[in-house]
Amino acid sequence: MINVNPHFSQIKPTYLFAQIRQKTEAYLQQNPEADIIYMGIGDVTLPISNAVITAFEKAGDEMGQKESFHGYGPEQGYGFLREAIVRGEYEPLDVEIEASEIFVSDGSKCDVGNIQELFSESCRIALGNPVYPVYLDSNLMAGRTDIVYIPFTAENNFAPLPLKEHVDVIYLCSPNNPTGTVLTKSQLQAWVDYAKKEGSLILFDSAYSAFISDPEVPKSIYEIPGAREVAIEFKSFSKTAGFTGLRCAFTVVPHELKGLDGEGNVVSLNAMWNRRQCTKFNGVSYPVQRAAAAVYSPVGWREVKDQVRYYRENARMIRDGLQEMGLTVYGGEHAPYVWVKLPDGVKSFEFFDLLLDRCAIVGTPGVGFGSCGEGYFRLSAFGDTERIKMGLERMKENLRLV
Ligand code: MLT
Repeated sequence: MINVNPHFSQIKPTYLFAQIRQKTEAYLQQNPEADIIYMGIGDVTLPISNAVITAFEKAGDEMGQKESFHGYGPEQGYGFLREAIVRGEYEPLDVEIEASEIFVSDGSKCDVGNIQELFSESCRIALGNPVYPVYLDSNLMAGRTDIVYIPFTAENNFAPLPLKEHVDVIYLCSPNNPTGTVLTKSQLQAWVDYAKKEGSLILFDSAYSAFISDPEVPKSIYEIPGAREVAIEFKSFSKTAGFTGLRCAFTVVPHELKGLDGEGNVVSLNAMWNRRQCTKFNGVSYPVQRAAAAVYSPVGWREVKDQVRYYRENARMIRDGLQEMGLTVYGGEHAPYVWVKLPDGVKSFEFFDLLLDRCAIVGTPGVGFGSCGEGYFRLSAFGDTERIKMGLERMKENLRLV
């Protein structure tokens, strides 16, 4: 038998959302007639917008003709998409990003999971608690054990101050998954200042930035002075434009970012990520990249904004509905997730079972994101409005919590 990667024994045997799926399937085996309302994994439900799907179809047709066929594309993404991202995503924020700093990929999940390959095994890593499980699992799988957990709790308003101790790499997510809360410009500035002082690197997951409607909340970490010297940013078309099934995202690695190799030489993180992607990735399909570029066309942009508005309105409805039931809720204003404080003594997984049994609703237990998520529950606003209304009615009728 071969020797396997021993670090896998450090992670939970099942990925959170796979565990939720298994529990839901078990329930459906017992209750085949159940009309389940899904508010668990953050998966979009609206179809791809017209302008975007038209670009996708047109590109698909091009692939069927000799003159316009495309084989392997550039590993970093086609120039037309990288340029469209610079113009559509960053110029409106007055942020200078070069196309050569943008790496197109098939999802932010892969990028935030893979990025740790650039760092030494001995790096000290800081991440939130609760946290998107990929940050933690990918580091544990690589054998990193020096991990500092930053509590994101009601006590610190889900906006912890920078650490007093030194860490090498910090994962930040705003709008936050799972809490749905955001960091303001001044809060993020404090983290950028910390990273500059400590020589640390911030990994800024900004997959939900399309949901931000307050100008005081940065949509990109590069709106913060100094961030180009200390931060990598991850953005995705999944939640912005409904690409969870099409798959397209991008990672920004500014040319200023540097690290030290084993011999003490200064190396560029942009060059390293480029090298990594060229070895392990062959790019996103041409039709998907054409579809992603169409998101930034005037009509495409209007259409995807309408979709985000629809989900934001769902989030408002969830917040209001739960508050009417006497529950305390967080997030959901600039994010598609509502973070629900359960009544004292109710555990996250107990509530998952209760909600499924009594209301046939699937949500996500907060403790699945880390110990500070115990006693909390995450509801996703990515569903159909009428189904969410029905879910809230079911909760009001069948749950007596407070
Ligand atoms: C979630 O529900 O947390 C997200 O959908 C997971 C993801 O984007 O990978």
